[in-house]
Amino acid sequence: MNARTDPNALGILPENSEQATEKAATTTLLDPRFYTTDFDEMDRIDVTPVRAQWDEMIAKMAADPNKGHFKKNENWNTPDWENMDPKLKAELVDFLVSSLTAEFSGCVLYKEMKRRGNNPDICQLFQLMARDEARHAGFINDALREADVAVNLGFLTKAKKYTYFRPKFIYYATYLSEKIGYARYITIYRHLEQNPDKMIHPIFKWFENWCNDEFSHGEAFALLMKTDPKLTQTWQNKLWIRFFLVAVFSVMCIRDHHRPEFHKALGIDIDEYDREVLRKTSEISKQVFPIAIDLDNPRWEKNLLKLRAASAAMDAAKQKGGLMGALAKIPAGARAGLAFASLYLIPVKSDHVIEEDSRMVPSY
Ligand SMILES: [Fe+2]
Ligand SMILES: [Fe+2]
Repeated sequence: MNARTDPNALGILPENSEQATEKAATTTLLDPRFYTTDFDEMDRIDVTPVRAQWDEMIAKMAADPNKGHFKKNENWNTPDWENMDPKLKAELVDFLVSSLTAEFSGCVLYKEMKRRGNNPDICQLFQLMARDEARHAGFINDALREADVAVNLGFLTKAKKYTYFRPKFIYYATYLSEKIGYARYITIYRHLEQNPDKMIHPIFKWFENWCNDEFSHGEAFALLMKTDPKLTQTWQNKLWIRFFLVAVFSVMCIRDHHRPEFHKALGIDIDEYDREVLRKTSEISKQVFPIAIDLDNPRWEKNLLKLRAASAAMDAAKQKGGLMGALAKIPAGARAGLAFASLYLIPVKSDHVIEEDSRMVPSY
């Protein structure tokens, strides 16, 4: 079995709290990151051009529809972690740790913006979003605790490396990760609605209301981008948006393929699932991005496959270590770069119209 088919061979699947915290604190190209940015520049955002929509959105978030949602109730049943197939257990834990890191990453960034800012509009928004993400992260950590692998979030805040992104990159990346988060959660939820016998963990029952939080966080970033048309309309920024679309989409596909047993137990075909999630996210992102990836272009899936193979080869080289490992990484890295460039160069679609008020409601 090679590293691609045996996730344990990657040596990255956590088995206890220490390993889980270490895993969460690790930042490779594929792991969820912690971000920092120019908070002063973000504090200067003036929401006047979108004031009416802004106030409506904030009122909805402040009403806190999910206030009581993130609590275990009679629908919660503790999974039989002890007797779970070890590979499935490892991948399920890995999924939860990775989700927790992503949720907590949002929490840290949003809280910091709230702490550093003086602009009441911005501070209020970020405080509301930090509130949600703290709940999400806390709820996942409760679930992990049952498997004795809770992540030390205080330690994580200090130990994890922070990636600096200019504010506009934060908007592109965070907008996309909120919307893709929505699309992932709702797709799993709808699938399990149809296939209740595949409910391998009770946390999925919470995904329906949960993903509405992510959806509205995405709406907030869409509005922030709408305050300044340059952010989405100049040709340079269109190139950046294209870059983030390809990066966020392809990283998700690579990451999902690291968890074959997890998806098998859910009865989910990873390729089908990824296709569906990308289709939804791409459709939603047309509300603010003037370009969309042509997911139907045969070059898209072909090069995605190449990128995944190159990424698996890099993992294998990393596992090998030493000189041979280092040497093996070079061609694998070059192949990955080439595949990414090929994905980036697929002509994009731009035949959609962006309405002035392009707010959306969750509809999947
Ligand atoms: Fe969240
Ligand atoms: Fe979120």
